[in-house]
Amino acid sequence: MKLFLINKVYAFVDKILSPTIKWILEGKIYSVLQMLQSGWRYSLWKARLGDLGRFSVIHPQVVIRAPEHVHIGRNVAIAEFVHMRGYGGIYIGDYSIIAAHASITSVTHSASIAGANFRDTNVVKPVIIEKNVWIGLNAIILPGVTIGEGSIVGAGSVVTHDVPPGVIVIGAPARILRHLGE
Ligand SMILES: CC(C)(COP(=O)(O)OP(=O)(O)OC[C@H]1O[C@@H](n2cnc3c(N)ncnc32)[C@H](O)[C@@H]1OP(=O)(O)O)[C@@H](O)C(=O)NCCC(=O)NCCS
Repeated sequence: MKLFLINKVYAFVDKILSPTIKWILEGKIYSVLQMLQSGWRYSLWKARLGDLGRFSVIHPQVVIRAPEHVHIGRNVAIAEFVHMRGYGGIYIGDYSIIAAHASITSVTHSASIAGANFRDTNVVKPVIIEKNVWIGLNAIILPGVTIGEGSIVGAGSVVTHDVPPGVIVIGAPARILRHLGE
């Protein structure tokens, strides 16, 4: 009976609202829900991460292991499905963007001890991403790397060495494509 009444009310409202008003209302409700979810995620991550600066956004489905060693500045955007392993420390500077599916790891296993059990050979090195860096979709940043201020890492690149400030790097291993502004 209750469901029947709800359906009746819904059908009535649906009939009297013009498509334009419905479109605006749905858009507003969606935006408000998005804002609430985003604020909720911010609070959850703020409590777990080493640092999370103001106005930074962490989108859904982000995985961060050892989050207490991950330090994120202000106005940073971390997109969906980004994966970070923070054991050796990860530092992300203000205004940086990490695009979806990028991976940043500060831990590896020693590849020089023959016959060793890999679980006993953790090697940790910090990753430093300076201010205003843009990491493209699916890029991989390996332990010990520093990416200089204002640089861009192209989609799908594998960064194995430090990247100087103000350049675009692409490929695996990532190499300089050009200096920004050239
Ligand atoms: C790196 C990037 C910014 C370069 O842009 P650009 O300066 O306009 O470079 P161009 O498109 O002129 O490409 C220059 C050359 O590099 C190659 N190239 C560009 N991006 C590449 C990449 N990610 N990997 C490998 N090669 C790449 C191009 O094929 C081209 O080579 P060619 O001259 O032999 O054809 C861009 O290609 C990119 O990867 N953007 C990331 C997109 C993304 O992640 N979006 C998510 C939004 S947050």
